Amino acid sequence: MRMGEELLPQELAGLVDVHGATADRRVFSDPLIFELEHERVFGRAWLYIGHESEIPAVGDYVTRRMGRDPVILVRSAADRVDVLLNSCPHRGAMVCLADAGNGRGFICPYHGWAFANDGRLVATSVDDALYQGKVDMRRLDMRRAAKVATYAGLIYATWNPDAPALDDYLGEARWFMDVFFQRTPGGMVVLGAPHRWEIGVNWKIGPINFAGDGPHFTQLHGPIAHVTQGIERPVLQAALKAATAIRFGHGHNGVAQLSPADQPAAWLGLDPALVPLMRRALSPAQLDVRARLVQGVCTVFPNHSWTHNPVSFRSDEPPVSFLAMRVWQPVAVDRTQVWNWFLVEKEASESWQRKAALAGLRAFSVGGTFDQDDAETWDAMGRALAARTVDGQRISFEAVLAHRERPDPTWPGPGETFDTGYAEGSEFDVLCEWQKYMSKP
Ligand code: FES
Ligand code: FE
Repeated sequence: MRMGEELLPQELAGLVDVHGATADRRVFSDPLIFELEHERVFGRAWLYIGHESEIPAVGDYVTRRMGRDPVILVRSAADRVDVLLNSCPHRGAMVCLADAGNGRGFICPYHGWAFANDGRLVATSVDDALYQGKVDMRRLDMRRAAKVATYAGLIYATWNPDAPALDDYLGEARWFMDVFFQRTPGGMVVLGAPHRWEIGVNWKIGPINFAGDGPHFTQLHGPIAHVTQGIERPVLQAALKAATAIRFGHGHNGVAQLSPADQPAAWLGLDPALVPLMRRALSPAQLDVRARLVQGVCTVFPNHSWTHNPVSFRSDEPPVSFLAMRVWQPVAVDRTQVWNWFLVEKEASESWQRKAALAGLRAFSVGGTFDQDDAETWDAMGRALAARTVDGQRISFEAVLAHRERPDPTWPGPGETFDTGYAEGSEFDVLCEWQKYMSKP
């Protein structure tokens, strides 16, 4: 640890070896780097805040984080959504302490300053005459995110006034996002409040994993997949190896495991009643992916991910696919809060919503069979990553060296592909993007 020292630009440049596909262990364990991320990554990138279905009515709000900054996401008018720094301009108190609610504005609990839903200061605790016109009261409005925008019901915000438009930032990832979040005309709705839990590892481990860690699935989740789904390890491994890993650009990466094109479309784990709606909402190529998708995962840089997997409750019933979406919130260099939502088509029946929620809870939640595998491993990984290595041994993503020039020509969508879900290239790309952000003063 070199607390108090500055990170030198050349040190930063060497953290991720883009060509050699390795990373310095300090990327995941150095408090100085963690501090710098707050400014250079979380202060600049678009960050996922919440879903439109969480704040349907005017005055609805939920409290969230942008990196470590507490914020309020509020529907301030029928056609307007604001993201406000949840820290009072007066003395810095947290203005809104609730997780969610509805109101005409916010009153700070410390001295009672009142703010409208869009963050405008409407009253101080005493007569405004106290200030005798000496203070520009507009300067004391709550701070708003520089930009707020929505894609497919997903609300993102950034502190960076120079950030590109959200559509440009998401770029080609939007094509893949549609397959999950815009697959019916009504789009998706979240099923309740997010579950939250903490893991003892750096925040980047989750996004990297969800960008395409095929091998961990076989090794870590293989036993539970066998017990609960009856899938033999060699079958699982072959399926994941055959998956397509995709780089969409700007650090957004995912993996799609599709059933073979020469087999009839399976619509695995989807409500058959909703399939006609999907035919209306998606383009022919997206529909092809939607119909053949067995499992899909994706990360939007820096810390927004989702996974879509089929779960069988009984061997004599068809599986049900859930969609779990999460944000990996940095807490400390070795501590991350996971926020997890389940989503379902707006048009889904109540019974299907229940099935999809149960499938998600069973597999990918704090008590989910698969997440327990990850959480336990990641917790120990946090301690192990902090270890010094005598020779500065680096973290390896070097499988990509063999797959960089081997795309998957069968992928019907945009992006640069790798021919296997074991390529490590989509995972490593998250770090390459991170390196770009971190190297820029
Ligand atoms: Fe909010 Fe004083 S800190 S009113
Ligand atoms: Fe996992």
